[in-house]
Amino acid sequence: MSNVTTTSIEEVIEARGAPVWLQLYPTSNWSVGEKMVKRAEKAGAQVVVLTIDLNSDSKRVALARYIRLDERDCSACHDPARDDSWLDRKAMYRDTGARGDEFGTPGMTWDYIGRLKGISDMKVVIKGIVTAEDAESALRHGADALIVSNHGGRAEASGWGSLDSLPEVLAAVSGEIPVMIDSGFRRGTDIFKALALGANAVCIGKAYLWGLAAFGQPGVEKVLDILRAELAMVMGQMGTPSLKYIGPHSIGRH
Ligand SMILES: Cc1cc2nc3c(=O)[nH]c(=O)nc-3n(C[C@H](O)[C@H](O)[C@H](O)COP(=O)(O)O)c2cc1C
Repeated sequence: MSNVTTTSIEEVIEARGAPVWLQLYPTSNWSVGEKMVKRAEKAGAQVVVLTIDLNSDSKRVALARYIRLDERDCSACHDPARDDSWLDRKAMYRDTGARGDEFGTPGMTWDYIGRLKGISDMKVVIKGIVTAEDAESALRHGADALIVSNHGGRAEASGWGSLDSLPEVLAAVSGEIPVMIDSGFRRGTDIFKALALGANAVCIGKAYLWGLAAFGQPGVEKVLDILRAELAMVMGQMGTPSLKYIGPHSIGRH
């Protein structure tokens, strides 16, 4: 669960009837992140996912192209204000003293992982790793797992595809901690390739959001059904009856 959601982690966990992971943008004010982490742990979350690939701002060309130009007042439902208090109005940042102009974390260093582990018993997953060097640093500083991710192209838009980063990250951690991956997974075949390279899990962002935007919950369920069916299909075609049969031998690059 992103920590910029409009719904709080307490409500999400209650609705789901089981814990969720809290993703964390801690802001440049340590006490803001600390408050959210403690709150998530109290709500039952067992994992905090620290996103490290958006420490400064990003330029989102598609977003700019589609940004709302209609200037009619829609504040009955949407809060249009983007002043420094916008963050404090988000469910998880409320009452933390968060300020919009402190959202970035340009001063974040690797010791942040140890600091997070020091304030809760939650596992700390690092999201946004794309190089062997960073994977090694995260491991050395106590990360419990990694998510190879380029933020779905929303942080830096022109770097490597996350699948191209996966092999070096896996080699760097040599099986010591789980490695998950996201960014650009649209088909079951994409998932198969990541599993073949050695990913422990594949995550999705935009695919489920498209289903959600179009059809609500049934749309999200349909997206998951499609991806599962496609994965099962390619597994059948590849002669891999279960996940354990999928490996580097299943794919090649020419
Ligand atoms: C609308 C939107 C909002 C997002 N918000 C967050 C966020 O708050 N925190 C975060 O770590 N990643 C966020 N992401 C990135 C996703 O967690 C994920 O890394 C990315 O969407 C995966 O790529 P994909 O969209 O190609 O599947 C967001 C992505 C989208 C599309």
